[in-house]
Amino acid sequence: MRRPFIAGNWKMNLLAAEANSLADGIVKDMAKNTPQVDVALCPPATYLATLADVCRDSRVRVGAQNLHWESSGAYTGELSGQMLKDVGCFYVIIGHSERRQYFGETNESVNRKLKAALQVGLHPIVCVGETLDERQQGVTQKVIRQHVVAGYDELSKEHAEKTVIAYEPVWAIGTGMTATPDQAQETHAFIRSLLVDLFGSQTAESIRIQYGGSVKPGNVDDLMAKPDIDGALVGGASLKIDPFCRIIRFQS
Ligand code: 13P
Repeated sequence: MRRPFIAGNWKMNLLAAEANSLADGIVKDMAKNTPQVDVALCPPATYLATLADVCRDSRVRVGAQNLHWESSGAYTGELSGQMLKDVGCFYVIIGHSERRQYFGETNESVNRKLKAALQVGLHPIVCVGETLDERQQGVTQKVIRQHVVAGYDELSKEHAEKTVIAYEPVWAIGTGMTATPDQAQETHAFIRSLLVDLFGSQTAESIRIQYGGSVKPGNVDDLMAKPDIDGALVGGASLKIDPFCRIIRFQS
């Protein structure tokens, strides 16, 4: 049985005081309502250490939005997995479509980052997903196959089991155009079939696949009702306490 996993990707939003009070509110809501889900907050890197402190002794974990694949060295502006771990990070998002689109990330860099994260004991959230153009051309499965197969190249089963995949159709991110539950389920089932081919069915069944792209209180219940949708990676709706806590308490 896969435990549901809801993560908030704050992207490049909020200032320190807002970040603290949002995290504090989520921790308090979780303590009161005790939903049976794993929860992660992925703030800008400058707030990771403080938020790890705010979330200490709670069931909320902190994640970074990116890492570099090297452990140290002359890489101005970058952060290593060990540094993230050192300030209390548990998860790290890898290969988000915004990083692929604006910062030149490729399946190869995703693979290097994935290995680096696992090496230091971080739990990667690996993002995959097609653009609108790719969906319209009918190459969604081809693109997703490349993302998964190249992204997970040379990973052991043990390492693969520590990862989470986030299926985020690029056309649904920040647009209000959510994939329908059936559309999302179809791609999630396809991703799981790829994982079966790569790692066998036991490992594939244990890996959680989140859906991301305009997840809101109003659509989370139907998405989470699908058998291969194990959680959500939430952007905009994770920046305010009420919608995010409602998403965490989906179907309640
Ligand atoms: P939105 O929920 O704002 O569409 O963003 C999704 C996303 O990119 C999460 O990583």
